[in-house]
Amino acid sequence: MTSPEKMLPVGIIGGTGLTTLSGLQISGERQVRTSWGVPSAPLVEGRLGDQRVIFLARHGNPHRIPPHQVNYRANLRALYDAGVRTVIGVNAVGGIHPDMGPAHVVIPDQIIDYTWGRDSTYFEGELESVTHIDFTWPYDESARQILIDAAGAENIPFSGFGVYGATQGPRLETAAEIIRMERDGCDLVGMTGMPEAALAAELGMRYVCLGLVVNRAAGKSDHIITMEEIEEAIDQGMSGVKRILEVSMAG
Ligand code: HPA
Repeated sequence: MTSPEKMLPVGIIGGTGLTTLSGLQISGERQVRTSWGVPSAPLVEGRLGDQRVIFLARHGNPHRIPPHQVNYRANLRALYDAGVRTVIGVNAVGGIHPDMGPAHVVIPDQIIDYTWGRDSTYFEGELESVTHIDFTWPYDESARQILIDAAGAENIPFSGFGVYGATQGPRLETAAEIIRMERDGCDLVGMTGMPEAALAAELGMRYVCLGLVVNRAAGKSDHIITMEEIEEAIDQGMSGVKRILEVSMAG
């Protein structure tokens, strides 16, 4: 990930199936506190190749915080305070688009937010003025291209487009909800893409999503969704996600 500030660390927020980042040469671990509270886990500092990286387990380590209870504000603020200006959010997702089956990698280009009741902005409380950030393109295009090039170079099956529908969870969707989301234009569905992307934008950070499809979305296969199939897809696909991260850091 060639950031203009080459010396600054790249932040990687690991989701389900990526609680630790093997391959990261760890130099330290810090439990931090922000004015928005404590992040999900200690910040793990290290290197992937030549690039300084700060890794944060979104659901805690061990994996225990459900998507609707993640303190997204503390997570992004902690990374910002540590000098991060480029964030890669790794997300396990369900595939709605027919090409997006288990173990497929998706680097989406748009978001529709269906979440509710989450602390989704830094702009609240005693403000001097009302601020509306631009969010036309929620994902940083140059960071997207780096991930796309890395996936291509590694021959990993991927889609370099897609509308990420962010749902509240923690339950999975009904078949009718997925049909509605498909009508809305969603290609993939996950529970953690928002408000993470918007908070990064509020802080002026570049943000990109690296999604791993771990199941076909509700009603899109001939069976109901099981944790076994999700775990199997994680086992199958997470090595590709890690390779994309490693190769993209080398660039
Ligand atoms: N729906 C929502 N979130 C998900 C799914 C899904 O099918 N799979 C993984 N995260």
